[in-house]
Amino acid sequence: MKLTGREEAMLAGEEGAAVQKAMELLIRYADALGAEDFVETNNVAGVPGSAPPWIKQYYAADGGDYRAVFSRFDLDADEVVDIPRMNAFSCHLQGGMDPMLWREQGMSEAAFDNFRSDEQQVAEHGIQLLKTCTPYLAGNVPVMGEHCAWMESSAVIFCNSVIGGRTNCEGRESTSAAMLARRIPNWGFHRDEYRKGQHSVNVAVPVDDVFEWGMLGYFVGGEVQDTIPVIEGAIAAPSLIRHKHFGAAAASSGGVEMYHMVGITPEAPGVEAAFGGARRGETFRYDAAARRRTYETLNSVGQCEDVDYVMLGCPHYSIEQIAHAASLIEGRKVHSNSALWIFTSRSVKALADANGHTETLRKAGALLMTDTCSAISQAVPEGTRVAALDSAKQVHYLPAMMGIEGWYGTTADCIDAACSGKWRGRLA
Ligand code: F3S
Repeated sequence: MKLTGREEAMLAGEEGAAVQKAMELLIRYADALGAEDFVETNNVAGVPGSAPPWIKQYYAADGGDYRAVFSRFDLDADEVVDIPRMNAFSCHLQGGMDPMLWREQGMSEAAFDNFRSDEQQVAEHGIQLLKTCTPYLAGNVPVMGEHCAWMESSAVIFCNSVIGGRTNCEGRESTSAAMLARRIPNWGFHRDEYRKGQHSVNVAVPVDDVFEWGMLGYFVGGEVQDTIPVIEGAIAAPSLIRHKHFGAAAASSGGVEMYHMVGITPEAPGVEAAFGGARRGETFRYDAAARRRTYETLNSVGQCEDVDYVMLGCPHYSIEQIAHAASLIEGRKVHSNSALWIFTSRSVKALADANGHTETLRKAGALLMTDTCSAISQAVPEGTRVAALDSAKQVHYLPAMMGIEGWYGTTADCIDAACSGKWRGRLA
């Protein structure tokens, strides 16, 4: 690898043992990828040093504390070193429980104590506690072309496609190392040649709400898998929220980390720019039959119409979505056989509190939670057998993870299910 003088110095330990271990890890990672050099990054999002007690027990011989977990697990180091404050602007993504409503999520006192101690360590190491899978809704918005090192597939696809930031789908180890070294291998989506379209998707039916964009994303990911689709046809520019649900779905049914929408996303002013030359790959058509097939696939895990849990907020809800959900449920009540949990970030919840939405939801019997979601925390209300979801990503994961049934529908379908205890969603 070609290293700069500063990188050689970091590798030699001139900036401390932790930075040295971070560079060693990043060089091993770059070698495995075939990268020849690094790019500098000052925007890193991961889950640095946090771990539940069952993971910490593996590091008991080293003290089982934050320092041990960061050294051994995050940096894969052969010894435990002191961990300084991070050198890059660093953010903590989603975590395992709500800081206030953890009892409702079924978490133990011991798990909460561990969570609090990890949070204190994270903050003391200069890492911002965004606690969300939507950092771009919580104050971390890269600029076009900015080199980032982000975990979380739904955030990565949004960063690359909608903002024009540059990140691969990183892991815990590479992000923690990048926080210390401010470097990430110059490979994949950091390079122009890897950001070009590989297949076309022709959209032949209107796609005009979050529900429809989620289905289109799920279809696209299923067809193109981990390549870059170029979306064309009957689409009007989606809002930020629609992009969020489209990208999360495409990253779940496939491994899509970037997409282009011709005339819409920043690196696709035209077809030629999207493909970096002539059109290539296959063309997939999203028509009425494909739309119906996608809906049926997403609803193939729903059998029983008695819904005992409704989960909204995957990816974490924006303030606009919380306001919408509150307006749908205002004056109604969550059914006694059901529960409604909505997930967002702490900063967006602060806005929801200030605007009265949290109170509207509370009066209806719903809970607005932060930091996590049912899939990440593996927490659903006790006795849940059937869930209703307005996220194609969540319906892809939650039923399989929790051994429950799941329905996919609009936000209004889901609120209706929460208030009636029955699933009545249909494809119009
Ligand atoms: Fe976020 Fe959980 Fe969905 S972390 S993207 S709400 S699976």
